[in-house]
Amino acid sequence: MKTLLNESAVSPSGGSGEVLAVRGGRALRGRVEVKGAKNLVTKAMVAALLGETPSILRDVPSISDVKVVRSLLEVHGVTVADGENEGELILDPSGAVAAHFEEIDAHAGASRIPILFCGPLLHLLGEALIPDLGGCRIGDRPINFHMDALRAFGAIVDKSYEGIRITAPNGLKGAHIELPYPSVGATEQVLLTAVKAEGITELKNAAIEPEIMDLIAVLQKMGAIITVEPNRVIFIEGVDTLRGYDHRAIFDRNEAASWACAALATDGEIFVGGAKQQDMLTFLNVFRKVGGWFDVREDGINFRRGGPLTPVTVETDVHPGFMTDWQQPLIVALTQAEGESIVHETVYENRFGFTDALVKMGADIVVHPHGLDGDYRRVAQRELEQAAVINGPTPLHGARIEVPDLRGGYSHLIAALTAEGESVVSGVGILSRGYEKLFDKLAALGADFDVIG
Ligand code: EPU
Repeated sequence: MKTLLNESAVSPSGGSGEVLAVRGGRALRGRVEVKGAKNLVTKAMVAALLGETPSILRDVPSISDVKVVRSLLEVHGVTVADGENEGELILDPSGAVAAHFEEIDAHAGASRIPILFCGPLLHLLGEALIPDLGGCRIGDRPINFHMDALRAFGAIVDKSYEGIRITAPNGLKGAHIELPYPSVGATEQVLLTAVKAEGITELKNAAIEPEIMDLIAVLQKMGAIITVEPNRVIFIEGVDTLRGYDHRAIFDRNEAASWACAALATDGEIFVGGAKQQDMLTFLNVFRKVGGWFDVREDGINFRRGGPLTPVTVETDVHPGFMTDWQQPLIVALTQAEGESIVHETVYENRFGFTDALVKMGADIVVHPHGLDGDYRRVAQRELEQAAVINGPTPLHGARIEVPDLRGGYSHLIAALTAEGESVVSGVGILSRGYEKLFDKLAALGADFDVIG
């Protein structure tokens, strides 16, 4: 008898605790719908703080990261209400107030989102607080680009035992900023700050991910003047006031890629409603090279195998490269490809930890912590690179595994569904951070699992 884990049963903090027994060896078949992208929706919610009138955001997924941002906005006095239609949020910033370190800390969970409140709060209240940066919650993911950018606008950054206090006694002024790396978060930081800073901001080496372009569209609806030039240069002309927006979020291409890889790994067929080709071109090329077949339709993309799986060499990169969030589910499929595949991770320094569990399940994966010497690398100057060498095909067998993070955890689930026999997967609560109704969707696709803890 199948017991479905409903959303409310999944820990909203992303904390672990839920355990699934998964019986694999069954192809996933059917249709899933993806809503707005986690990595746009959460930022667009923060942007609502900049408006003088309420904003409406549509296609908001019911995921715990959205709940975290909602409660952070609420502690800052923003009224957040559900609209009439599913996935609609109405955000009214007219009562915005300062919050304390402890309140922000209590609502932030493991999220880095408080960092992006800085610009809007500085414009609104002259002060922004980021709690507990010394702890492990932000882990190795630094925020130096964010702080340097805020200083360039004229903000003063003070570190105390409670966290970081940022003030702007003389207001924020447009700046010339060149990011050392096209960081998604730092680009968003600059956009959310520059739109109301006095004068013109020039941002060089900006990230240009589709979610960033969608955030720019949100800000333009609010009255911002933002010009995207060639070669990762963005100009922002500061304006005095912004109004609320009405916006339908761009679809979640990370979730779409996750389902595509699930179809590939389990030898099933999944139609991903809401997926759009334009924002997935790089992924679709790799999907095809690996032996996948896809059919782009008006309302989504259908994914399945097109024949035997073949090995590939891919390198994660900033847009328009292959996203770092796509490699984890792809690697599960690559364990079933005939021959040697290589995946280079160039965005984060430690994003292959999840492969330990796959090895435990029978995969042949060797991680080279310092990359492979002599290989061509597009981002040769990055010291972060790691490489995973995957030799296949290897049958996977059930095992006891622990979910490490969002994308690695999803790949563990697919591996368990691909494997022969039963796996016990613990810590699945963290998956609710980015996958809406994951367990309902898996059940609808024919996955065989029980909630056992
Ligand atoms: N970096 C710094 N200093 C900074 C900021 C970033 O050194 O101040 C480094 C990071 O350590 C990393 C690289 O720059 O090595 C790229 O980080 P980036 O700032 O681009 O990432 P992010 O904004 O923290 C977002 C997504 C991630 C996604 C990355 C890359 C959100 C909430 N998160 O993170 O998504 O992997 O961009 O596209 O938008 C996920 O969805 O599971 C996820 C982790």
